[in-house]
Parts: sequence; C-alpha cells; structure tokens
Amino acid sequence: MCGIVGYTGKNQAAPILLDGLSKLEYRGYDSAGLAVRNGSAEAEVVKAKGRLSALSQKTNDGLSLKGTCGIGHTRWATHGAPSEINAHPHNSDDGNVVGVHNGIIENYQELKEKLLKHGYAFYSSTDTEVCIKLVDYYYKKYEGTPIDALNHAMVRIRGSYALAVMFKDYPEEIYVARKDSPMILGVQDGESYVASDVPAILKYTRNVYYIGNLEIAKLEKGKVTFYNLDGDEIQKELTEIKWDAEAAEKAGYEHFMIKEIHEQPKAILDTINSVVKNGKLDLSAVGLSDEDIKSISQIYIVACGSAYHVGVAAQYVIEDIARIPVRVELASEFRYRRPILDKNGLVIIISQSGETADSLAALREAKSMGVKTLAIVNVVGSSIAREADNVFYTLAGPEIAVATTKAYSAQLVACYCLALQFARSCGRLEEAEEQRLLDEMLTIPQKIEKILEDKERIQWFASKQASASDIFFIGRGIDYAISLEGSLKLKEISYIHSEAYAAGELKHGTISLIEDGTLVIGILTQSELYEKTVSNLVECKSRGAYLVGVTTYGNYNTEDTTDFTVYVPQIDTHFAASLAVIPLQLLSYYVSVSRGLDVDKPRNLAKSVTVE
Ligand code: AGP
Repeated sequence: MCGIVGYTGKNQAAPILLDGLSKLEYRGYDSAGLAVRNGSAEAEVVKAKGRLSALSQKTNDGLSLKGTCGIGHTRWATHGAPSEINAHPHNSDDGNVVGVHNGIIENYQELKEKLLKHGYAFYSSTDTEVCIKLVDYYYKKYEGTPIDALNHAMVRIRGSYALAVMFKDYPEEIYVARKDSPMILGVQDGESYVASDVPAILKYTRNVYYIGNLEIAKLEKGKVTFYNLDGDEIQKELTEIKWDAEAAEKAGYEHFMIKEIHEQPKAILDTINSVVKNGKLDLSAVGLSDEDIKSISQIYIVACGSAYHVGVAAQYVIEDIARIPVRVELASEFRYRRPILDKNGLVIIISQSGETADSLAALREAKSMGVKTLAIVNVVGSSIAREADNVFYTLAGPEIAVATTKAYSAQLVACYCLALQFARSCGRLEEAEEQRLLDEMLTIPQKIEKILEDKERIQWFASKQASASDIFFIGRGIDYAISLEGSLKLKEISYIHSEAYAAGELKHGTISLIEDGTLVIGILTQSELYEKTVSNLVECKSRGAYLVGVTTYGNYNTEDTTDFTVYVPQIDTHFAASLAVIPLQLLSYYVSVSRGLDVDKPRNLAKSVTVE
C-alpha cells in the first residue's frame, strides 16, 4: 500500500519526510516523491521511480529542498504503471493545490470526465491526480477555504483515501482528509506530523490523534484542528503511543502474516470492486472481448505454489459455471514438457509477485506458441503483468509475509469474476443468476470477519499441535483444492510434514500411513460430496486417526465423526474455498507461533522465487 507523510514545524521538512518514508518502506512501493514549501513560495516537487534511495540521491538526502512545510509519498501502483510521472505528489497545473494520497478513487474515471469538461488536462494515468484537481476545482468554484474544497470533494468521491494536501494560499499549513485508508496525526512542541502509520512519526512524537472516517484536519505548527464533513470544528483527544517502532509497523499485530490474514476482507472487496461498475461485473479493463471469450476452446491455468492451488479451485468453478474446459498445471512442469496448446486456448498465469521465474517462463512459452495469455497479478508493472496480453490486477496491496494469504484470497475472487464473465459472454449464465452469484461473492468479506472472530478457538487447538508430525488434509472437489493450500501453509511456516490428498484417493496407498493419533483434517464444504468425505474420515478414524472437520454452519452432525470441528458460514458452494481456507491459515499461523518459529520469514523460503 502507499505511504504518506507530512510535516510542518520549525525544522527543514525534507529530511524528516524522507526519514518518515523510510519507516513506511515495509508497506511496499515502486516510486516516491516530496513536495516542500519554503515560506509562501510555491511547492517544489521532486519524484523518483524505484527505491527511496533514488529520491534521497535526487535531493541530496533532502538538503537541496528548502522549507519547513512539506508532504511525501511512497507509491504502490494501483492505477497507472510505476513511473516518475505517476509518482506522487500530484498538483494542479497552476500549483494551487499539491497533494499525496493512499487509497483507491473508485469513480475517478467519471470525475476525470467532469474535470476535462471544465478545462482540466491530465499528465498522469493516476486516480490521485484526478482527486487533487477535483479539490482544486471546488476550491476555485466556491472560492472558499481548503476545508470547503475538501468536503465538497469528499462528498463527490467514492472509494478510499488518506489525503494530505497543501494550498498555495495557505503557506506552512497541511490539510488532510480520510476515508478507510489509515492515517495518524502527531504533534510536539511547535511541530505537526501526518503519516499512514505510526512508525513514520514515532521518532519525533508519541502524542497522536486518530482521525476518523470522513473527517478533515488542518495542521499548523504544533496545532491540529479537526472538522467534520459539514466543516464544523470537532474536538479530538490526544493519545500517547506505547508501541516500539518494530511493533508499530505491524499496526499492533505480532506478525505480518496475521495482519495480512485480517486484511483479507478488504483485499477481496477492493479486488471485486475494481471490476464492478454500477453493481454489475465489468471486466472490460481486463481486455478480453466477448468475441475473444466465445472463441476460447480450452483454458490452461499455470502457476506455482499457492497460486497453483488457486488454479485447482478455479478449475472447478470455471468449468461448472462457464462450461469451458480448464487444465491446471505447475509452471515448473509446463515450461519443460513441450505443451500441446490449442491455438484458440487461453493461458492464465496466476502470480502474486509477477516475478516468479517458472511462471514467467511458462508465460513466454505460451506466447511463443501464439496462444493468448492473461495474467492475474498483484504487483502493477511486474514482469508477468507487462508481458501478458491481458492483466487482471488483484488489489491485495503489498504482501510482506512469505506465506501468502490475502493475495491468495484476492486471486480466488479474481477467478470467480472471470468465471462469471466467461459464462455471460458464452451465454451460459442468466442475468439473474449472475447477479445472485455476484451478490454471494460480496458476502465473502463479512463472512471472513465472522470466522476471524472465532480465531481464539483455533489458536487453542493449534497450541496442542506443536509436536505433531505427518498431518493429512483431505477433501473432494473444491475441498481438495483447499486441502492443498492448507497443507502448504502448515508445511512452509511450521516445518511439520503434511500431505494433501483427494479423499477418494487415500485408499489407493497412502492410508497405510495412518496410525494411532495421526491428525487428519477433512474439508467438508461441498454438500454433494460431504457424505463421501465423511466416509473417508471414518476409514482414517478406524485406523486410529484424530479427526478435524472444517465444514459449514448447519452440518452439526459432523461432530458425530470428528474430534474437533470448525464451522464457517454457509455460502454458494463455488466460493467455499474463500471461507474454508481461513481456519487453515490461522491453524498454520498459530502452530508456527507455538513452535517459536519465524512466521513471516520461514527458513529456506523467499517471497518471490525469481530463480529456477
Ligand atoms: C505460498 O505461501 C508461497 N509463498 C509460494 O508457494 C508462492 O505462492 C509461490 O512461490 C508463487 O509465488 P507468486 O504467486 O508470487 O508467483
């Protein structure tokens, strides 16, 4: 996610802003910038693509930028590729307003069209430039105050924002506005600070204000004044931060992984919302026309690790809803087996990082054979994103923990959206059924929130598994796909050997491994396959296994068979993976913690495997 910082006080602003941005690097970014004002002079803006060091170099560690009031930004690209022109701060052409933003302006296209009609021009492809020029437009239209301009803009904007702006007519002051995106304000002896997260200002002050949604604030030197959306002044309590810097980067969570597990509802909602316009699915931005889709004879989903597991789940969903044949392949196999691809096929590469060597090689192999390619990627401008014919960006934000959770979940819903789009384009899905499925998808975030409320029960069970070995995950259909992901999560962060098995396959050999006390986790969300998987669990139980069931509310007779049962809310069977995987993520996390391991950076693993 992007990071914003701001400072107004008696010291030179630029070095403080750079230091603050360096504390936000963990949020992930691809470019950065500063805007600093020296008294009433217009802001001087400096931006750089790449690491923060490039910006430091351009500004001689901030020393070449004079002034005691400024804002800064690290950009995690969502609209517009990583580049200097797209980097923040963004400004109105006459320099009247300059600002930085973290969030997503969902209706930026319609706002851009409105501003174009009023004579505005645009130099970047970002939603933020639209937002800044909208503030400028209202400032001039109402000839009011910055607060007036901001609240008019806030009423018009749909989306999320942590906004920090400076107005030419108001030197030494910074104005901020917030909706959904994180923001913290600090004050200390004649100094005022704004940042996306506590680490950026912890070195300077522990006295902070928490700004609420749809609230505005004016930062003067050592003084912050708050306003509501009507422009009325409101009072806020000052709070003292007790965290240390390291803890603060995780926003109070012990590890990035548990923080990202909790970010899944937002990652899913942002990803779905990125392809929903006026309540309807609209994947035009992905670039596949109806004609393209109708001509697809075969889909090949190619990926690695958890992304591959998304493909296994997606195969069931796309085939069942869109009735297009789907093959799922490991990229490391695909790239060397001289695949025979149908020229009317579509190769879908799924990758969080967009840099996985095997997946990139598979993409190039498909392109060399003249087959259309689509990438589902979380990093804007990554190699796979740039080389694929079409891209569907997941909006999970940067994922820091090596074990993927929120990106996996965002990839899943991206595949659900593709399934609906493919079915509609092929005339295989009635509008009413499509709407029902979309509405059902939109219940996933709140249902995950509900599962997370139950996490202490899973934590209790996990704490008893610290010395477990040889854990089995079994399931049928989509439940098998969930088993694959559950097993990998456990292996990669707890170092406990585990296997995922298609439940019906156990009796063909592996069941010989089951003995007294072996932990077998059965995934039971697919109603049509429920009884069969229960039978497989009973087979394991008769050989001494300890059974855990993951099933949906209502299947309370599961407890007649299993020794420990986790229930998840009911949902259309196609989307069950999005819910059943959550307890498995939590189980793996808590087992790893109970074993005292480095959850976020497990041994031998890298976040992106950019080598073969
Ligand atoms: C999953 O938790 C792992 N970190 C790993 O399997 C990962 O999914 C795989 O390496 C693929 O990475 P990518 O999505 O960035 O291509």
